[in-house]
Amino acid sequence: MCGIVGYVGRRDCSDVLVESLRKLEYRGYDSAGIAVIENGEIVTKKSKGRLDNLQAKLDEEGKPNGHVGIGHTRWATHGEPSDINSHPHSGKRVTIVHNGIIENYKELKEFLMKEGYSFLSETDTEVAAKLFDFYYNGDPIGSIARALKDLRGSYAFGIMFREFPDRIYAVRKESPLVVGVGEGENFIASDVTPMIQYTRNYYLLETNEIAEIKEDSVKIFDVHKNPIEKELQFADWDVNAAEKGGYEHFMLKEVHEQPEVVKATLSPRIKDGMPDFAGDGVDVEKLSSYRKIFIVACGTAMHAGMVGKYVIEKMARVPVIVDIASEFRYRDPLITDEDLLIVVSQSGETADTLAALRLAREAGADTIGIVNVVGSSIAREVDSVIYTHAGPEISVASTKAYMVQVAVIYLFALEVAYRAGKISEEECKKYTADLLGMSDVIEETFALKDECAYTASRLLNAESLLYIGRGLDYALSMEGSLKLKEISYIHSESYAAGELKHGTISLISDGMPVIAVATQSNLAEKTISNIKEVKARGAMVILIAGADIEVPEDAYDELIRLPKTEELFYPMAAAVPMQLIAYYTSVLKGNDVDKPRNLAKSVTVE
Ligand code: M6R
Repeated sequence: MCGIVGYVGRRDCSDVLVESLRKLEYRGYDSAGIAVIENGEIVTKKSKGRLDNLQAKLDEEGKPNGHVGIGHTRWATHGEPSDINSHPHSGKRVTIVHNGIIENYKELKEFLMKEGYSFLSETDTEVAAKLFDFYYNGDPIGSIARALKDLRGSYAFGIMFREFPDRIYAVRKESPLVVGVGEGENFIASDVTPMIQYTRNYYLLETNEIAEIKEDSVKIFDVHKNPIEKELQFADWDVNAAEKGGYEHFMLKEVHEQPEVVKATLSPRIKDGMPDFAGDGVDVEKLSSYRKIFIVACGTAMHAGMVGKYVIEKMARVPVIVDIASEFRYRDPLITDEDLLIVVSQSGETADTLAALRLAREAGADTIGIVNVVGSSIAREVDSVIYTHAGPEISVASTKAYMVQVAVIYLFALEVAYRAGKISEEECKKYTADLLGMSDVIEETFALKDECAYTASRLLNAESLLYIGRGLDYALSMEGSLKLKEISYIHSESYAAGELKHGTISLISDGMPVIAVATQSNLAEKTISNIKEVKARGAMVILIAGADIEVPEDAYDELIRLPKTEELFYPMAAAVPMQLIAYYTSVLKGNDVDKPRNLAKSVTVE
């Protein structure tokens, strides 16, 4: 939920840390802080709120001068956002930054208080800092290893010891952390984004591996102080991918990246015109043998799963259960070793999704992850991982990650359907080609930009609105509604169009906006009847319709026509105007589009 960074080298450490934190601000922006070793002492500067507040403080008070340091950007979990609760936190001889949650911090705090420690903040992290200090005996690795034995929960720590001013230490469990290896300089960070301008080489740390990072060396040890040899990884992300690239917001940039990332994600998995997941380690022979398929995820990723349910059931005739991860993990689900669990996650770190995965593994189910972040916790714990190639998604509101999740799920559905003998090779090849062609269709939908901006202008004063559709269009409506509410702060709900008259239609009053989706020819007529019902009660209807759907003029106030495509894949085309409507509404309202209030990009606590 937070971002951590660290640097050892010859550059101005304060500048490197602040610049690096800027790239991680999407992980939380409740506060920011750095600690740098200056003349042998650890100097800490921190501030509540955005990184700009910290920058202003550094400008005013002067930045610490040094070459070794750690930094943090926070999404508050324990203790309200405040200067005092901001990281770094310190014991007498130790200063740390932390991403994660120490579950037993209360009992540890009581113990440490009895040992004479006092606390400034309400955070679990300060307890960890003082625990490291308590066990410190002149041997950094030994004392870290000892403290880890007492800690329960999740963590990625950057740690500095006053008596060892030439180095930092790092260790992780369940929270992400990478160690960047440069020339005459080395780094730590929650992901590779901040370090790729300096180096593309990095190590992934496994649970409780302790990294010792100096200017000219990175050494990794286990908790018994045995050195560990690790394979160096290479980050092939484009340096510019983490920047806005000329767009006003990351969200808009990421919307426009969709054609490219859909191609990048699908192409490596299409061989001789057929789906091919062998390279992902998926046991394709087994695919048609599952009793049930569970798709479990949170938020937008769960909505991608909803599209999956409709498509896999329709094409492969296997029952698919889609579940919200936080519900699945506590409802004692009926999952067995005859079932397949698919977890979908952009970050690969979402706590509830990770817990659901572990539960399914315990039940003996096979597991597949559809994950964007390479080496993330979910990616490492599933039996096989299908990486989406969306690149870094910075905007909190997910767009391109959703699109590639849906794309992969479609391809997967085709694979299962073919293996189950439900579609012929010829049909499979046709659908596969059409799916790959969605990249061009998405590109065509960008021409709807002005219409979407106009629609947004009509939503500005709404207090509440509805998204409606049937079948795949309903699955997509869920995502459209979430996108709008999370960045525009206008209340909205998605409803299966046929369900309205069982209660919800009473909400319709004069001028209330209803965004309706009709792309499936077998359902369009019924959806249009539902639209007429809301229109008759005063609703202002914006209709997003497939190219060939016949729409009477009295069924809408505004019509957004999608470009022509294979009907099955319309959710991918229709997602774009949904994203753009949400985007322009947020812009027109003057909201912080990329960092909506109360939200963080990566939700690593339940
Ligand atoms: O990283 P994940 O895909 O596991 O995240 C799950 C949700 O938190 C995420 O999809 C969230 O709903 C979106 N950021 C909303 O746009």
